[in-house]
Parts: sequence; C-alpha cells; structure tokens
Amino acid sequence: MTPSTPTTAPAGTAEPVDSTTVPRESVTAGPGLTVQRHVRENDRISALSRDVLTGLSSPPRTLPPKWFYDAHGGLLFEEITRLPEYYPTRCERAILELHAADIAAASPVDTLIELGSGSSAKTRLLLDALRDTGTLRRFVPFDVDETSLTSAGEAILADYPGLSVLAVVGDFERHLAQLPTGGRRLIAFLGGTIGNLHPAARHKFLTALRDQAGPGDALLLGTDLAKDPDRLVAAYDDGAGVTAAFNRNILTVINRELDADFDIRGFAHIAVWNAADSWIEMRLRAVRDQRVTIRALKLSIDFTRGEDVLTEISAKFVPAGLDAELQQAGWACAARWTDPDGAFALTLATPASPPAAAPI
Ligand code: SAH
Ligand code: AVI
Repeated sequence: MTPSTPTTAPAGTAEPVDSTTVPRESVTAGPGLTVQRHVRENDRISALSRDVLTGLSSPPRTLPPKWFYDAHGGLLFEEITRLPEYYPTRCERAILELHAADIAAASPVDTLIELGSGSSAKTRLLLDALRDTGTLRRFVPFDVDETSLTSAGEAILADYPGLSVLAVVGDFERHLAQLPTGGRRLIAFLGGTIGNLHPAARHKFLTALRDQAGPGDALLLGTDLAKDPDRLVAAYDDGAGVTAAFNRNILTVINRELDADFDIRGFAHIAVWNAADSWIEMRLRAVRDQRVTIRALKLSIDFTRGEDVLTEISAKFVPAGLDAELQQAGWACAARWTDPDGAFALTLATPASPPAAAPI
C-alpha cells in the first residue's frame, strides 16, 4: 500500500465546522411546516472533506456512515427496509404496532422529536398513538438528508392536520444543542441507528442528549439485538445486492462532492460479523490495485488489491449492556419492549435523578 499524499491542505477545511450557535437558516416552507438548517452546503463539503482526509489518508481506512445518505442513499435505505433478509425495520414496526399506545401512555408529550428520521414511516404509529392522548402539538424530524427529511415532513403535515412540523437538517453528533426545548418531549431514535456509532461516540451522544433533557422528557431508543451471525450477515449482504449498492453509494457521493474518480466497480461489498465487538462491519474491498484521485482535496490514494475501507459498524446489543450504557450516560431504563421473535428492542428511558450531593 502506497502512503497517500495530500499535496496541500484542502480548501475549506481550516475552519471548524461545528455549529453550536443559533440556527443558520430557518424557512417557513408552508403553513405548519418550518425547515431549519444547521448544515449549509459549504459546511457539508467541509465536513465531508475532513472525514475523507482523516479516514482515507492512512490505514486502517474508514468512512463515517452518515455519507451514505444523499437523496439516492436515502432511497436505497428504504429499499433495504423492504428486503426479506433485513428484519430490523419489520421487527421495530411490529413492536410499535403492539405497544405505541403503551409508549404514548407512559410519555404523554406535546413534542415528538425524531433523530435520524429518514422517511419517518414507522413513526406514524407513534404519532397516531400520541395524537390519541390529545397532548401532541409538534413533530420535529431531524436528519442530515434534507431530501428525505422535507418529503417526510410534508407528507406528515398533510396527514396530521393541526400538527406543527419543524424539520431540522442537522447532524445528531453536532447539533443536539439546537433541538427545540419547552414542554414535554419524547426523543425517538429508531431503526437501530445508535448502533452505527462506535461505543465512545454512543456515550458522547447519549450524554449530550441527557445534558439537554428536562425532567419531563424521555428517550425512545431502537436497538437491534445480538443473534445468530448467519441471520445478521444475510441482513447486510442481501441476495438482490441492494445493500451492496447502498455501501458503494458512499463512493458516488465522494466522486460527486469532492470531484473524485473512484471506480465503483473496483470495490466489492463485504459484510462480516465481528464477534469480539458484537457488531456487523460493512467494508468496501479493493478488487484490484488502483489509484484514486480526489481532486478537491489534492489527494491521491493507492489501494492495493484486497485492502478494505470500513464504512459502517452496526452494533447488536444485549439488554444488560444497553442498560449499563444508558446508566453511564445518565439515563434510566423505564420500560422495554421486544418483538415476538426477540430480534429487536425499543427502550423507553428517562433522565436519571442526579446522585445525591455528598455531605460536606
Ligand atoms: N429512522 C429511520 C431511518 C434510519 S436510516 C428508520 O428507522 O427507518 C438512518 C437515518 O439517519 C438516515 O435517514 C440518515 O440520513 C440519518 N443519519 C445518519 N447519520 C446522521 C447524523 N450524523 N445526523 C443526522 N442524521 C443522520
Ligand atoms: C440505519 N442503520 C440502523 C442501518 C443498520 O442496519 O445498521 C443501516 C444499514 N446498513 C446496511 N443496511 C442497513
């Protein structure tokens, strides 16, 4: 493997891209729908440049999975959710069909926030149940993919008259401090997306969320559970090749956004079960020696045949481990539901009371 050679610092990466300030842009898109953008186009390119530079410059090569989700990646993910091998969406939907009313009864909130909301398809079960409690006023879908976000926001607005929808374009690893506050909030993080974060990032995320949660707020967390590795690998390496297309889409995004020349067919989709870490790894493996040029970064990378880029982990949890992670971040498990097969879990967590101050 030849060391990669950034010849100059890429344009636009010198400035920190984090935004903890007031919303960059807030647009009323129509009666009842407001779109708030915390990620502007140049921020997006800077963040992608930084991730590509740090992730691909030297081995072990990695890319963060959030870059799968441009408009096409969002559609590919939706196609994944309908695959026979990909059980998590169906299992989580089954839990919501059975228990959305219990969740709503335990959290009669006025605001439902959904992180990594995508199409918000299953979320409608929660919206229905919360609407039936008579308290729901506002829905806040939050996603990096503006296309899925706004089309979901518009569809929900049309189907739930009287509900106000605030669609937030943001990164849940950077912009949680900008979530709307006030009233009682249920923060849903569905689909098992928390499993796409490494353990340290999960802790940081859960702690940041806890730091801004009020006493009446609650977290509804979807997590995939550990199970037979053959079933897991099949879910991430489907027969129709949709997950392979989803995985390779990250290279298409880099080609388009950073003027790169990845040959998409030069990388094979790999899904492996990492038992030691209890997660699935999705990788892109170079099928031959090849040089890739990323012109916007003035970077050339030589890949040798068989070399991998880790594009996603998808952690599979056991309930006790999940409880410990929640507790370490200041959350207490209030209730948990699983599907009849025990494949997937939805956990309702509330802010744990702070430890009593030590006597002076
Ligand atoms: N919650 C939906 C979609 C899951 S797909 C479901 O359960 O089916 C993961 C979603 O998270 C995508 O819509 C993707 O755009 C979004 N996402 C991934 N990383 C993100 C990040 N860092 N910040 C905000 N959204 C993110
Ligand atoms: C969004 N996330 C929970 C999916 C998962 O299962 O980890 C992403 C995905 N990757 C491949 N298939 C689906």
